[in-house]
Amino acid sequence: MSKITGVVLAAGKGVRMRSALAKVLHPVAGIPMVSHVIREAREAGADQLVLVVGHDRDQVMEKLAGPGIQFVVQEEQLGTGHALLQAEPVVSKSDLIMVLCGDTPLLQADSLRRLIDFHKTQKSAATVLTARMSDPSGYGRIIRDEAGELIRIVEEKDASQDEKKIDEINSGIYCFDYQVFSALKQLTTNNVQGEYYLTDTLVELISKGRRVLALPTANEEDIYGINDRSQLAFAEKKLRQRKCQELMAAGVTIIDPETTYVQSRVTIGQDTIIEPFTMIEGNSVIGERCAIGPGSRIVNSIIGAGTKVDSSRVVESEVGDRCDIGPYAYLRPGTILKQGVKIGDFVEIKKSLIGAGSKIPHLSYVGDATLGQNVNVGAGTITCNYDGKNKYPTLIEDGAFIGSNTNLVAPVTIGEKAVTGAGSTITKDVPPFSLGVERAPQKVIDNWQEREKMDNNE
Ligand code: UD1
Ligand code: CA
Repeated sequence: MSKITGVVLAAGKGVRMRSALAKVLHPVAGIPMVSHVIREAREAGADQLVLVVGHDRDQVMEKLAGPGIQFVVQEEQLGTGHALLQAEPVVSKSDLIMVLCGDTPLLQADSLRRLIDFHKTQKSAATVLTARMSDPSGYGRIIRDEAGELIRIVEEKDASQDEKKIDEINSGIYCFDYQVFSALKQLTTNNVQGEYYLTDTLVELISKGRRVLALPTANEEDIYGINDRSQLAFAEKKLRQRKCQELMAAGVTIIDPETTYVQSRVTIGQDTIIEPFTMIEGNSVIGERCAIGPGSRIVNSIIGAGTKVDSSRVVESEVGDRCDIGPYAYLRPGTILKQGVKIGDFVEIKKSLIGAGSKIPHLSYVGDATLGQNVNVGAGTITCNYDGKNKYPTLIEDGAFIGSNTNLVAPVTIGEKAVTGAGSTITKDVPPFSLGVERAPQKVIDNWQEREKMDNNE
């Protein structure tokens, strides 16, 4: 069986983005726009992917390098035909070649599958995917004869007034057999832009008596190309809508899809409820029956089943089942919460392990700490983990009770079921089952108000 090689043209500059970042690397729904194209091409059956790179190629290659991806360099951007020709050395003679553009993040595998199937069943030498556009300006137009057969594609800049009225356009997505490379070598730059047009290979193949077809897409949105930042925002919105649809279809409740931002790689379990103004990003995995939001932001984190995250931020952390977080908690990278942990309002946790059933309900900072099970941390507790030079660990063993407003000056260990007195600054280890208290004895001055009065009258 023939292999499918996807060739993604991505050497162009993308001037209208006005950016130091290569156009195809601009993120849409959290990943570079070209990564959406690559993912969908793979899903449609592409066995290998070749990226034609040129402008900003170091950035592009660094970001996209990975298994199954090859790069070929187009030193000078002499046109789309010249770009595809660069892929010849890495394509085998028996391959079906699927040409794609790097800037169409709304592309979906279904459209590509349809194109591939049609190309194969029709035993075509070249098939171009087309679309009808209410505003076709800027695109190449599809010229058909009276019988509806494709004759050629004319670029906007080369088109006559009549040709410009044609609303069927070239998507820039094609299937070819290997013969395309011989056709590419026949191209000239005899056109307004002085470029080697990939589209001209179709004429070349037709003149050789080869079968060349044009297939209208079933989904116009798919071929939407990004040239500037307002188109980028449009694509972002579309992908966001699609993601919400997909999640809802899989059994997730989204109270308000309009204000819910879930990036494409995120997974969410059944019967989880996402409340408004919530962002879930990166490779986050949310379990079943959770309640997330309103107003939570979860980045590259794992959230267990039945957990609540109310108006809080969770970054690169792992949260167990049935935890209760927020409102207004901040879990920073490296936080691990075991099951049934309660993290309340205005609590910040950094790089710490919190054992099952432990509670840090209010106004605390816990950093570089390890807490056992069923620890209770009183309001206002601070781990003093940093002396200005180094970070030190705090260990709190099972069942310990940290009194409100305790400063734990690390490195320090609080033993199993030990207690610290409220307001203590603990600088020495507290052994298991004992009380650590550090505070000056309280003074009481009798009749204070009476004395004040006397002082003031004199
Ligand atoms: C091209 C098509 C046009 C089609 C449109 C769809 C040609 C001649 N025209 O026009 O019919 O309607 O796409 O979007 O093919 N690229 C390279 N190297 C180059 C030139 C381009 O890699 O030398 C890449 C670009 O990075 C981009 C893609 O090819 O990803 C398309 O190039 P672009 O310049 O945008 O072509 P259009 O003029 O839009
Ligand atoms: Ca374009």
